[in-house]
Amino acid sequence: MNIDQIEHKTEIDMSVELAGIRMKNPILTASGICGYGLEYLPYLDLGKMGAFTTKSITLEPRDGNPAPRMAETRAGLLNSIGLANVGVDKFIVEKLPQARRLDIPIFVNVAGRTVEEYCEVASRLDEQDAIAGLELNISCPNVACGALEFGVDADQAGMLVSAVRKVVKKRKLIVKLTPNVTDISDLARAVVDAGADILSLINTLRGMTINIENRHPILPRGVGGLSGPAVKPVAVYCIWKVYNEVAGKQNIPIIGIGGVQYWSDAIELMLAGATAVAMGTVMYVNPQAPLEALVGMEDYCRRHKVDRIADIIGTAEPPRAI
Ligand code: SIN
Repeated sequence: MNIDQIEHKTEIDMSVELAGIRMKNPILTASGICGYGLEYLPYLDLGKMGAFTTKSITLEPRDGNPAPRMAETRAGLLNSIGLANVGVDKFIVEKLPQARRLDIPIFVNVAGRTVEEYCEVASRLDEQDAIAGLELNISCPNVACGALEFGVDADQAGMLVSAVRKVVKKRKLIVKLTPNVTDISDLARAVVDAGADILSLINTLRGMTINIENRHPILPRGVGGLSGPAVKPVAVYCIWKVYNEVAGKQNIPIIGIGGVQYWSDAIELMLAGATAVAMGTVMYVNPQAPLEALVGMEDYCRRHKVDRIADIIGTAEPPRAI
């Protein structure tokens, strides 16, 4: 064996496949973190990521909730954005061509107040070749109707996903699940049975913070969605549970989301069962975090003599007491 072959052998294959969508590496952006694509480019070359997920898109433009929309907590961030976005028409004409320039798979997060709204937005986006997949948001805790109303009830979630599945014929259908339920596997099962190609989990956990001087909740709606390092163990548990009880058995890939800061967090989510890992809140602190994570993940593979990162998916050992 000559030296060229030896070097080649140490190269790690970082690519993963999500229901036929090839990603050059497993790290993507969580919805909402980097807007529609190009806003974040001064801080990070998003083209180096495995995929990009947009902010939620609704039928009509939305201003979102009143300020303040974010409140920092000790180990995370509470947000109450309220699905602020430009609306599907403007998104298609103005934003999507920009996102396409990233030259990586684009996932568009879709939200709505009613089944009809979800279907209308999804069918318009289904016609767009620039999009690899639609991520149905049935898990946003920050709006009065729609989203989480569907996401906490397996029957409602299944009914919504089957309706959207009928109009989404060309793009992959991802469904983003909430951890704010008794058993997340029930929800996963319902949406997979209704036609989801990919699951993403977890969205934020409902939380609240109160200003102790004036005694008002800091966020105007009171409740917000908690993200950041505090939620990572919840994400690991939910991914592990859904992978073992539903997704792994039916070959449905999972996009793992929740409190990932470092390479070791991303590896942990993959061991639990995630095929790809989205990074979110950390990017407000360290925009380079995804690229740093990729270096550490490759190094982990090298140390553990793993040639393909995909080989670690779902390989966590069972708990010792089982
Ligand atoms: C928001 O826009 O309020 C956040 C979106 C989400 O939690 O899904």
